[in-house]
Amino acid sequence: MQHQRVLVLDFGGQYNQLIARRVREQGVYCDLVPFTTSIEKIREYAPIGIIFTGGPNSVYEAGAPDVDAEIFELGIPVLGICYGCQLVAHKLGGKVAHAETREYGKSEIEYAESLLFKGIDKNNICWMSHTDYVGEVPSGFHITATTKTCPAAGFGDAEKKIYGIQFHPEVHHTVQGDKILRNFLYEICGAKGDWTMSNFVAEQVEILKKKLAGKKVLCAMSGGVDSAVAATLVHRAAGDNLTCVFVDHGLLRKGESEEVVSVFRDKLGMNLIRADASERFLKKLKGIADPETKRKIIGEEFIKVFEAEAKKIGAVDYLVQGTIYPDVIESGKGASAVIKSHHNVGGLPSVVDFKEIIEPLRDLFKDEVRKVGTELGLPDSVVERQPFPGPGLAIRIMGEVTEEKLQTLRDADYILREEIAKAGLNREIWQYFAVITSTYTVGVMGDARTYEPVIALRAVTSVDAMTADWARIPYDVLERISNRIVNEVEHANRIVYDITSKPPATIEWE
Ligand code: XMP
Repeated sequence: MQHQRVLVLDFGGQYNQLIARRVREQGVYCDLVPFTTSIEKIREYAPIGIIFTGGPNSVYEAGAPDVDAEIFELGIPVLGICYGCQLVAHKLGGKVAHAETREYGKSEIEYAESLLFKGIDKNNICWMSHTDYVGEVPSGFHITATTKTCPAAGFGDAEKKIYGIQFHPEVHHTVQGDKILRNFLYEICGAKGDWTMSNFVAEQVEILKKKLAGKKVLCAMSGGVDSAVAATLVHRAAGDNLTCVFVDHGLLRKGESEEVVSVFRDKLGMNLIRADASERFLKKLKGIADPETKRKIIGEEFIKVFEAEAKKIGAVDYLVQGTIYPDVIESGKGASAVIKSHHNVGGLPSVVDFKEIIEPLRDLFKDEVRKVGTELGLPDSVVERQPFPGPGLAIRIMGEVTEEKLQTLRDADYILREEIAKAGLNREIWQYFAVITSTYTVGVMGDARTYEPVIALRAVTSVDAMTADWARIPYDVLERISNRIVNEVEHANRIVYDITSKPPATIEWE
């Protein structure tokens, strides 16, 4: 079934993926594509509406991102946001002005009569992040919103269905911003709201059933949300023809390996092979302290173990990959500098004998993947699982990885997770975990001297892991975590809390 679709043209602003997610949250499918997408392609895509995102440029700069003015003649509603609204004004004969200082933050706004602002409180708050602004609107356009600094914070031509807003409705600091986007989609573009995750599951299972009938399918299961949801979705369609291989490198958190087996094999009845390779990994890591070497060893070893299991299964028709939409968008942008060599299942295809890759989640954002997981009956502990690095606890133990340190880390980390959940903070914190540092300090327990590695706690808030801030966990929660760790965990005598943001730090310590 073909869904109604909105096209979000990407001009390079920081909130662009967020705009696309907000559109999807309103029950309308959309794609985020580069602003260079040709007018023919746009026509072919047949969107019910087009959104121009923000971006860092000024429309008068040489080489600034541009669109073919024909886009305004297609009869498709357009909403320009921030840079996008300046571009609308500029292309249609209005004027863009340059302010002396950048405006960033909340701003008071007054809305006038407009379909875009239907049902919105007249005097309101919006979120601004810009330097240039629209000084004069094109002829035929009406000003529909003003702030102290922007004479045309909103403008539109209701007949042509072309609108511009200087502020960011996608950022939740813009009060009723979701309603503004909804108005654009439903009142202006005529959206029906045919994008829901229960529809997605039903449609995908039908498609996959046809495609996979009688075929052998293989999936590498890591315990992470994406591979878990991809495998479960495929299992609905392929049943016993799907085999999942779970390489247990012994570097998972407390209880995780058991949970993978109990959920996917015992509860969902999947063909799950658990390759217990913990000893093999520990042996390979013996005496290795350098983070990049550890990552490399784990990545290579992982592939070897998987390859051995895949060989036992023999040739398969399809290999399932848990690729999701942000990976698809990012891969279109070229490689950025390698800060850490990430380990994931991306290296598998070359070692598996298969005919084709299937990526059933490649159109979904992470929050949609989680919803699909819930639709498929996966428990919260799987669906809400925090991001977890492929090399696992090995990069949360500074220096050499030993069984003893793994044990200490698992126990400390478990207490941290338990207390964060008890305090009801688990959904607002992006990632939280313990780290064993390579610094040893003296402590006193009973009357005896102890000498143990410092345990650090790391908890960050983030939207996409590209940037992150340290989480302001209340002192009493930190106190409980610290007390419990030093009392309940062996080899723990000192706990510190990491208060660095990313950048300059990274989320993981190695
Ligand atoms: P950093 O430490 O670079 O981490 O700020 C950003 C996000 O990526 C996760 N991470 C990894 N994920 N394989 C993965 O699949 C890896 O090797 C890896 N290293 C870091 C990290 O947990 C955070 O969410």
